[in-house]
Amino acid sequence: MKQHEKLEKNVGLLALFMILAVSIGGLVQIVPLFFQDVTNTPVEGMKPYTALQLEGRDIYIREGCVGCHSQMIRPFRAETERYGHYSVAGESVWDHPFLWGSKRTGPDLARVGGRYSDDWHRAHLYNPRNVVPESKMPAYPWLVENTLDGKDTAAKLRAMQTLGVPYSDEDVAGAQAAVKGKTEMDALVAYLQVLGTSLKNKR
Ligand code: HEC
Repeated sequence: MKQHEKLEKNVGLLALFMILAVSIGGLVQIVPLFFQDVTNTPVEGMKPYTALQLEGRDIYIREGCVGCHSQMIRPFRAETERYGHYSVAGESVWDHPFLWGSKRTGPDLARVGGRYSDDWHRAHLYNPRNVVPESKMPAYPWLVENTLDGKDTAAKLRAMQTLGVPYSDEDVAGAQAAVKGKTEMDALVAYLQVLGTSLKNKR
């Protein structure tokens, strides 16, 4: 009893023990996830992003799309009815970094792949008001003007390789040629169109 009183009245000591308690609690929850198949095995049949899709993903990050769009469908009926099968960990094992997000000014995009045509995405990203009059999403007209030179694409694939994404050496060797001359719009649309498609048939 006496000892506990000491702990409660000494802020430094209390803070120390709080950090200790929270750390142990956190580790117990987090560490096992690194070793569970369900969290680190890719979904069956999933393919790594192509060079173009990977460049598109970087544009998605650069433009801050994650600030308004999550990529994480929660396992609730209201979500699965609207967006499709809830997100599973195996879909994200090759995503470095994750783009799950938490802010939903716009809809979740975890399964937007295949929902609209490429042309729809192009028109929408160029100016969302062209296809959704009430939209308050920003316009990204520069995406059609900026072309990719692919100088860094091979290095990006190689970095992913070191993180365990199964790119072959041929993938890396052909990366620059695969994106050179394409516009940023091409890349971003290619990325959007693949999102969530590895599980789509189970929707
Ligand atoms: C300021 C917030 C905001 C930002 C930033 C933003 N969006 Fe949106 N987005 C929205 C809103 C709101 C909607 C719903 C209205 C509409 O369809 O335009 C939307 C809709 C969409 C849709 C259609 C989704 C569906 O299921 O109907 C796509 C695809 C999309 N955004 C992609 C993007 C991409 C890619 C970026 C980054 C280049 C981006 N958004 C940036 C707010 C945003």
